[in-house]
Amino acid sequence: MRNIVLLAPNGQVGFELARSLVGLGKLHCLSRADIDFSNINMLLARIAQLQPDIIVNAAAWTAVDKAETEQDGAYLLNATLPAALATLAQQSNAWLVHYSSDYVYPGTGSNAWQEHDTTAPLSVYGQTKLAGDSAIQQHCAKYLIFRTSWVYAARGNNFMRTMLKLAQSREALQVVSDQIGAPTPARLIANITALSLQQALQRGEALSGVYHLAPAGETSWYGFAEAIFTLARQHGVMLTLAPEKLSAIGTADYPTAAKRPANSRLCLTKIQQTFNLQMPDWQSQLALTFIEWRNNTQVDNTVICP
Ligand SMILES: NC(=O)c1ccc[n+]([C@@H]2O[C@H](COP(=O)([O-])OP(=O)(O)OC[C@H]3O[C@@H](n4cnc5c(N)ncnc54)[C@H](OP(=O)(O)O)[C@@H]3O)[C@@H](O)[C@H]2O)c1
Repeated sequence: MRNIVLLAPNGQVGFELARSLVGLGKLHCLSRADIDFSNINMLLARIAQLQPDIIVNAAAWTAVDKAETEQDGAYLLNATLPAALATLAQQSNAWLVHYSSDYVYPGTGSNAWQEHDTTAPLSVYGQTKLAGDSAIQQHCAKYLIFRTSWVYAARGNNFMRTMLKLAQSREALQVVSDQIGAPTPARLIANITALSLQQALQRGEALSGVYHLAPAGETSWYGFAEAIFTLARQHGVMLTLAPEKLSAIGTADYPTAAKRPANSRLCLTKIQQTFNLQMPDWQSQLALTFIEWRNNTQVDNTVICP
C-alpha cells in the first residue's frame, strides 16, 4: 500500500485532504502538534522514516499582510520548505503535491492567467509562493502544483465566515468590488487533488506541472459577499445587515499592508483538459459550502488520520 504523508491536516485545505486522500493509500498526517515545520531537518527526517510514495504539502504561511514585515518566516514556510520537500521527494521517487496562489501574477489586465504567463508578484507573500513553485520545478520530477485563489471553507479563518459574522453584528458593510477572481472551497481543492493524483499515479511524470485550480466563473469580493448574504437570508439566518447597507468600495478605499492583484482570474483549460474534468461554477460551490456551515457539519473537527 502506498504511503501518503500529509503536512498540515488542520488547515482549511489540509482538513479536507485528510478526507479525500484516504482511498489512495495509507495516510500519515503531520501537524504542528508533531513538529514545528520551521525545523525543516527534523521534519524531513520524520517524513523519510515514513517512506513516502506521495508527499502532500498543505502547510503554508498564509498571513499575507504579516508577510510584508515577517519575511524570513514566510520564506521559510513557503519557499525553503517546498524546496526541501522537493529534494526529499526526488530522493524517495515520490510525488510531491503542493499549493500555490493567484498572487504570483501581477494582476494586470482582464484576461484569465495561464500557467505559462509571466509571473510578477505584488507582495512578499506572492514572492515566497513563487519561490516555492520554482524550487519544486527545479528539484523534483514528479510534482503537481495547484495554483488556487480565494480559499474558504465551512471551518477555519476565511472570507465567508468573516462576512457571516460581521453581518450578524453590524448594520452596514463595505466590501471591495474591483478585485476579480473565483472563491474556491477547500473541499473542491481536496477532491480535485485526489482525482488528479490518481491519474498522475497511473500515467506518470508526464503529468507533472503547474495547474490552476478554481471553480468556473468570476466575481468580486463584493459579489461574493452579496451571494453569501443572499444564501443566508434564504436559509433564515438572522442578519443585522440590511441588503441596501452592503456597499461596494474600491481597493484604494481599503488599504492593506500587502498589495492585492486586481485581476485574479485563473484559466482552467489546462487542468480540465489534462485530467478530463469540468469545473463546477463558484455559485454552486458556495451553496454547498454555505449549507455545510449552516448545518454545522463542521462540528467534527477531528482529523481522521492515525
Ligand atoms: N487561503 C487562501 O485564500 C489561499 C489562496 C490561494 C492559495 N492558497 C494556498 O493554499 C494552501 C492551503 O492554504 P489554507 O487556506 O489551507 O491555509 P491555512 O488554513 O492557513 O493552513 C495552513 C496550515 O499550515 C500550518 N502551518 C503553518 N506554519 C506552520 C509551522 N511552522 N509548523 C507546522 N504547521 C504550520 C498551519 O498550522 P496551524 O493550523 O497549527 O497554524 C495550517 O494548518 C497554501 O499553500 C496557500 O498558500 C491559499
